[in-house]
Amino acid sequence: MTGKERTIYRCQSCGYQSAKWLGRCPECGQWSSFVEERLVTKSQRHSARAPREGLKPVAITQVSADERERLATGIDELDRVLGGGLVPGMVVLVGGDPGIGKSTLLLQVAGQMSRAGHSVLYISGEESAKQTRLRADRVEALSERLLILPETSLERIIEHIEQIRPQLVIADSVQTLSSELLQSGAGSISQVRDVTGHMVDMAKTHGIATFLVGHVTKDGALAGPKVLEHMVDCVLYFEGEASHTFRILRAVKNRFGSVNEIGVFEMARDGLHEVRNPSQIFLNERAEYTSGSVVICTLEGTRPLLVEVQALASPSPLALPRRVATGFDVNRVALLIAILEKRLGLHLHGEDVYLNIAGGIRVTEPAADLGVAAAIASSFRDRPIAPRTVIMGEVGLGGEVRAIPYLEPRLREAEKLGFQHALIPDANRPVSIPPGHIQLHPVSSLAAAFDGLF
Ligand code: TYD
Ligand code: MG
Repeated sequence: MTGKERTIYRCQSCGYQSAKWLGRCPECGQWSSFVEERLVTKSQRHSARAPREGLKPVAITQVSADERERLATGIDELDRVLGGGLVPGMVVLVGGDPGIGKSTLLLQVAGQMSRAGHSVLYISGEESAKQTRLRADRVEALSERLLILPETSLERIIEHIEQIRPQLVIADSVQTLSSELLQSGAGSISQVRDVTGHMVDMAKTHGIATFLVGHVTKDGALAGPKVLEHMVDCVLYFEGEASHTFRILRAVKNRFGSVNEIGVFEMARDGLHEVRNPSQIFLNERAEYTSGSVVICTLEGTRPLLVEVQALASPSPLALPRRVATGFDVNRVALLIAILEKRLGLHLHGEDVYLNIAGGIRVTEPAADLGVAAAIASSFRDRPIAPRTVIMGEVGLGGEVRAIPYLEPRLREAEKLGFQHALIPDANRPVSIPPGHIQLHPVSSLAAAFDGLF
C-alpha cells in the first residue's frame, strides 16, 4: 500500500468528523466523544471484496411485486409486526435492552424457518456455538438447516454468506461485529455503520432476508447513530419490564408494512410464547371491588388492549408529597391530580399518589386520562368502581372530557371480554357499534363521570 495513511477523529455520538481531536463536539455538544479512525482507501476496499456486477436500470413494471414472496417466520405475532412476514432482501433491525429476549426470539425464528425448509445462518458474536446450541435445545430450534457461526470478523462473515447463500441471516449483534479494515473498535460508530452497510448490501444483492440485533443505550436509543435506522428497511423494538414476563414487539419503521402493529409475547422457561389475546392476560390478576383499580382500553397501534390502572393515594408525611408512576407519564399524573383538586375539590395535596399500569405495559395515550383520574379518585375516596366497567376519555384542563379516536374497536374489545359498562366521552357520540351487551355511559365532564361512578 502506498501513500500516507490518513486518520480522522469522529464523534461517536453524531458522526461529526474532525481532522484533530476535540474535547467537545461542535455538532451535538457531547463531551469526550471523539475517537481516532483510519480512513479506508478505495483500493483497500476493493481488495477486501470481490467486485460484483453492476445493476442495470429496469422498467418499474418489470419489477416483481408479488406479495406471495413473503416468507412466514412461523411466529404470527412477528409476522403481523413485519406487515405479513419477511420479504427476500429485507433488512430488519431489532433493538431492545439487554436480556429482554432478542436472541431468544431470533433463535426461535431461525428454528421455525429452517424447519420450514429455508437455509438459515445465525451469526453469533456474543455467544459461543455451544451456548447457542443449549439455548436452541431449550426453545426447540434444532434443525439441520440452521447453521451457527460464532464469528465477529465482517470480512469472514461476508465470505461465508457468499458461499452458503442462506435465505435468512441473523447477526447477533451488529455491535460485536467489526471490519478488520477499520481501526476503531467493535461497537464504535464507524464500525456499526460499516457492518450494517455491508450486511444491507449482502441482503439486497442476494435477496437474503436479514435480522440485525442492535443494542440500546441507557437513554433508550439504538446504540450508534440514527443513520443506522435509515439504512435498514424495518426497525423493531422489543420492550418490556425485566421484572415482568410480557414483551411487546413494536415497529417504529417499516418499508414493507405499517408501523401500527404490535406483537405481544410472554417469556417462559422454553422461550417466548405468543400471546394471542393480550387483554385477557393483562386483566387476569385483577381483583375486582378493590378501590383504585380501573380498567381502560388503550390502543397499541391499531390493536385495542384492555389494561388495569392501579392508583394508591395515602396521606403523606412529606411537605412535598410523592407522585410516582410506572408505565405512565408522571407529569400527566401531576396534571390530572391538579385538575381533580381544582375542578372536583379533592384534597390530594396532602396525599402521596402512586400509579401503576399492571403487566409492565406503557400507556402514552391521552385517552387513558379519565381512567387514571378515576383510579386516583377511587383510591382517595376508598370506593371501588362498579365491576365490569371500562373507562376511556381524554381530560382537558377545565375538567371536560374530550373525544378520543377509534372508540368503536375499543368498545368491541371490551365487549369481547365481557365488559357490561363503558364510560365514554359524550363528544364521541353517535357511536356506531352493533347493538351488544355493553351499555354506554357518555359523559362530558369529570364531575358527571364521577357522579355515575361513585
Ligand atoms: P436473551 O434472548 O438472551 O436477551 P437479549 O438477547 O435481548 O439480551 O434473553 C435472556 C433472558 O431471557 C434471560 O434473562 C433468561 C430469559 N430466558 C427465559 O426466561 N426462557 C428461555 O427459554 C430463554 C432462552 C431465556
Ligand atoms: Mg442476546
